[in-house]
Amino acid sequence: MYPYRHFRLSRRELLTAGIGVGASILLPSAGLLAQEVPLLQRKIPSTGESLPIIGIGTARRYEAVTREAERAPLREVLRRFKEMGGKVIDTAPSYGTAETVVGDLVAELAIRDSLFLATKVGARGHAAGIAQLEQSLKRLRTPRIDLVAVHNLQDIQTQLGTLRQWKQAGRIRYVGITTSFERQHAAFEQTMKAETLDFIQVDYALDNRKADQRILPLAADRGMAVMINLPFGRGRLFQAVQGQTLPPWAGEFDCSTWAQFFLKYIVSHPAVTCAVPGIAKVDYLVDNLGAARGRLPGAAMRRRMESFIDGL
Ligand SMILES: NC(=O)c1ccc[n+]([C@@H]2O[C@H](COP(=O)([O-])OP(=O)(O)OC[C@H]3O[C@@H](n4cnc5c(N)ncnc54)[C@H](OP(=O)(O)O)[C@@H]3O)[C@@H](O)[C@H]2O)c1
Repeated sequence: MYPYRHFRLSRRELLTAGIGVGASILLPSAGLLAQEVPLLQRKIPSTGESLPIIGIGTARRYEAVTREAERAPLREVLRRFKEMGGKVIDTAPSYGTAETVVGDLVAELAIRDSLFLATKVGARGHAAGIAQLEQSLKRLRTPRIDLVAVHNLQDIQTQLGTLRQWKQAGRIRYVGITTSFERQHAAFEQTMKAETLDFIQVDYALDNRKADQRILPLAADRGMAVMINLPFGRGRLFQAVQGQTLPPWAGEFDCSTWAQFFLKYIVSHPAVTCAVPGIAKVDYLVDNLGAARGRLPGAAMRRRMESFIDGL
């Protein structure tokens, strides 16, 4: 069972942040101080390696980036992400310029070694899959990709075979599969039962909870790490709560924004390793990483959050 961590600054953490115990008048604002607190982490079951529970997704906002004016804010997002202890960046060869932009910016910032780069293979056929993987290595400017997942189960057997060979050869570290379509969930589940996988990536959000019926428990049983895509339903959840104020009980799990409300719901599921919300603005980054700090909702609170959303 997942041990819920509680948000409390230890004396050592206060001292690390440069704050003497008893010097409460000199405490910086809660927001600033919170940014000093390490991000909550979860372990990848197949190795025990820890990852922060919130990462960055690069679909859409990184897909059509050609000018420096478009790259500059993304550079700042990645710089701050690393600075704040972030690691996981999810991309794909099918996301237009995303792999190239991530690879270039990470190289410029010289932060490759502190990141966990995840991409996908979405080709048909053995040779096409290999060509796509070679292209990802080149675009991401790295000799080794942390995670490659078969995108939406495309040509699954062939691509998984290649990924396993590449893992053996040390060119990728973890192998997985992804989907974001409910119509694929049954086939996804079958693949999870039949194959040994380090990771799965699936859609799950406070208003899209189908994955928690079978896929998330199965992942826990099979020892697979879980990365959650579409945690805001591509922004759908923000629309749903437009004009609403956060319920006061959100403070019981150290949540101060809607984004944190939605993300804390996801990452408090015991089977979930991390979520990758789309983030292309520093304000969103700071907000979303706030979901990786403090208390997380327990089972009863999670039911309350579901009722709240279902009642809108
Ligand atoms: N099959 C697959 O493998 C698959 C499929 C889909 C997605 N994915 C992965 O999952 C990632 C996430 O999906 P997504 O980016 O499409 O959707 P999402 O994360 O559910 O939603 C992103 C949207 O939320 C908004 N947002 C982010 N942080 C916010 C904040 N703190 N406050 C207010 N709004 C905020 C963004 O606004 P702006 O538009 O203003 O930036 C963006 O529109 C993708 O980037 C991709 O890496 C994988």
